[in-house]
Amino acid sequence: VSPNVDVPPCYYNTSNPYFIESIQYSSSGIVANLSLDSSRIRANDEFTKPISTLRLEVKYHKNNMLQFKIYDYQNRRYEVPVPLNLPSSPTTTSQDREYEVTLQQKPFGIEIRRKSTGTVIWDSSLPTFTFSDMFIQISTRLASQYVYGFGETEHTMFRRNMSWHTWGMFTRDQPPTYKLNSYGFHPFYMALEEDSNAHGVLLLNSNAMDVTFQPTPALTYRTIGGILDFYMVLGPTPELVVQEYTELIGRPVMPPYWSLGFQLCRYGYRNDSEIAQVVEEMKATGIPYDVQYSDIDYMERQLDFTLGSRFAGLPTLINKIKQEGMRFIIILDPAISGNETEYSAFSRGVRDDVFIKWPDSNEIMYSKVWSFLPNVEVNESLPEQTQIQLYGAHAAFPDFLRNSTREWWKREIKEYYDNPTNPEKSVKFDGLWIDMNEPAAFMNGAMGGCKNDLLNNPPYMPHLGYRSEGLTFKTPCMEGQQYLPDGTPVRHFDVHSLYGWSQAKPTLDGLQAATKERGIVIARSTYPSSGKWAGHWLGDNTAAWDQLTKSVIGMMEFSLFGISYTGADICGFFKDSEYELCIRWMQLGAFYPYSRNHNEKGTKRQDPAAWNATFVEITKKAMNIRYTLLPYFYTLMYDAHAHGSTVIRPVLHEFVEDNKTWEIYEQFLWGPALLISPVMTQNAVTVRAYFPNARWYDYYTEEYVRYKKEYRDLPAPLDHINLHIRGGYILPWQSPANTTFYSRKNPMGLTVALDDAQFAQGQLYWDDGVRIDAYEDGVYLLTSFIANKTVLDIRAMHRGYTDPNNLMFTDIKVLGLSVSVKKVTVSQNGGAIASPHVVNYDNTKK
Ligand code: NOJ
Repeated sequence: VSPNVDVPPCYYNTSNPYFIESIQYSSSGIVANLSLDSSRIRANDEFTKPISTLRLEVKYHKNNMLQFKIYDYQNRRYEVPVPLNLPSSPTTTSQDREYEVTLQQKPFGIEIRRKSTGTVIWDSSLPTFTFSDMFIQISTRLASQYVYGFGETEHTMFRRNMSWHTWGMFTRDQPPTYKLNSYGFHPFYMALEEDSNAHGVLLLNSNAMDVTFQPTPALTYRTIGGILDFYMVLGPTPELVVQEYTELIGRPVMPPYWSLGFQLCRYGYRNDSEIAQVVEEMKATGIPYDVQYSDIDYMERQLDFTLGSRFAGLPTLINKIKQEGMRFIIILDPAISGNETEYSAFSRGVRDDVFIKWPDSNEIMYSKVWSFLPNVEVNESLPEQTQIQLYGAHAAFPDFLRNSTREWWKREIKEYYDNPTNPEKSVKFDGLWIDMNEPAAFMNGAMGGCKNDLLNNPPYMPHLGYRSEGLTFKTPCMEGQQYLPDGTPVRHFDVHSLYGWSQAKPTLDGLQAATKERGIVIARSTYPSSGKWAGHWLGDNTAAWDQLTKSVIGMMEFSLFGISYTGADICGFFKDSEYELCIRWMQLGAFYPYSRNHNEKGTKRQDPAAWNATFVEITKKAMNIRYTLLPYFYTLMYDAHAHGSTVIRPVLHEFVEDNKTWEIYEQFLWGPALLISPVMTQNAVTVRAYFPNARWYDYYTEEYVRYKKEYRDLPAPLDHINLHIRGGYILPWQSPANTTFYSRKNPMGLTVALDDAQFAQGQLYWDDGVRIDAYEDGVYLLTSFIANKTVLDIRAMHRGYTDPNNLMFTDIKVLGLSVSVKKVTVSQNGGAIASPHVVNYDNTKK
């Protein structure tokens, strides 16, 4: 045998010592007790020695969803406190269940089959299972080589490579870098079966872990705490997998309409007039633009809920741009300085006991991150670490798992917004951007050093890329004491990766309590179900060409994770951007759900107004298309929120029967109907695009392109991003304007793209764009469109909202009609009400 260099020499360190001692079957599941064959135990260390008795619980929750959980029933262990939506009693019958579970007795293993095809989709009857206090390992064979997901990590392709790749998971302030885990933690994958059925698997565990793929194909999980709590959804299509997964973890938040507009930010604005100046320059370009930001610069020394003297004019500026129809978002960091003489966010936090403390102690655990100390002269020429050492204040970390902390945080947000003692200084933000919530620190561990070496340098250190630093790399100590809402103590070690998750809901609640409108929270660190309250940007990328493709992969992965409002920093965060790169990125970014240009302090300006007239024209063209299609896009957001469909949709989700699509990540869809084929390489003037089996119409010429099941090289000059509309769909749209405040008042239109059978359908969700829970309260309009040969039927499915602007579809385009049109009649409830003049309806050539 020739040695394969990728295969680690001594791969597994146990041989499964567990066997099933007793089994009980019931109509709703299986309960089995596992025992240990002590002759097969190798590890003897207290923390890695297998636990002698375990219990397996299989629960048939639904016909398409089951849970299997392995835990120590004699000693309670930490379990993830993230609530899932599970039926209170199982709603399955053995005939209707789509799966079948069989157990292997010795050594212990679970096998799950898809009943309709007999395909084995989980099989852990492998010699690698072990369950100890600080090392839990389980492997499964996979149904195919096509597995997607696990994050948050930069990936170079959409599907995972099975050739011995290991990916660590533990939330970290880690800019996207190959093989390193970044800000979020998503132990979820979607897998395809050879016959193109799909299923999804969540491991509900929040401890540091890694997963390794093997060519078998197989997958090994290794986690260093908690329990094994798996949830499997049976699809059987990729889109249904996401719908079922988000039904379990919670559906994505419904963003306000304005948050679908273009947004501009940067780190390092010197004062409020610099922001005012940029806003004016942007407005002068005429590029649609809804939201302006301020990064931490607006604060006094990066202290949350303060306003620095150079930004004293910010409240006035915000009020002014809001008058003009724009919106404003500010950043908040979680850590709170303990070094100020008067700082109410901190003193009230102490009063309400919100901060993470040392175990068995009343002392707050301080680390260093923002902010800097008062009354120091910061020498910015010093190396960063020296600056932190010299100037970094004692930073306390709110424990957002606690009720007291959630209440405190909401109050601080609302008070900053209202500013009752100084109303003219109140900052009327519309959205909140929550950064650094991995939680991040600028040093490893805490002031005074971490004390619990076992937790900070565990016996098994998952493959996170910084083994020697242990778990405290750029974060506080693992022994930090936190509390669940019911008062149960938990160690930071267990809940570290839930930090950003726990901050998301109180932030949205605080925001909406303050603004009394639907707002948007953009979170850096996420965990399954964060999408219920927040969107996510992909973090500190670099102004480099490879980041374009990676952003598409990242967004598609977050579609799987149930977070639909996503995007990357357009034109790149680190380093100076470049002209061509930034143009291509603006074109691509015009199709990010979260479309924001943002860059790092000290870099060259890269907002669209900073380049030249050609840049402006090209950007405007792309942004006008985005704004034109916002009614369609908003409807997709509604569909994600109400039914869990994806918004940024991988091509394979719509065409899974065509296995060429299983590899595609350089193109993506907006919902089912718009194919986006961006240029993502330098100097390219063409783009290679795949056209799956459908009728496709060029967005610009509205011509039927007749490419089917083939790759084509399409012209893609610098001012052009290729877009194709899929036959069979009807897209609602609206004339664009410089902000959504104005575009929402413009006349609407429909593009009816007929398929080969001369059929098309679509819908429009419409509400006032800002009402909290508009969908839940029924205060919306839902209209359906069906075109069948020569008849277009428009029907109100739900009439809970009447737009004050008397909106009408003044323009209806029909693409691909095979007969020529001589007369058009408009009728209501079957009776003719008008005979509009036919302008140019001859679409026969298209
Ligand atoms: C890190 C964030 O990822 C980045 O977007 C931001 O500009 C800086 N922190 C400063 O707040």
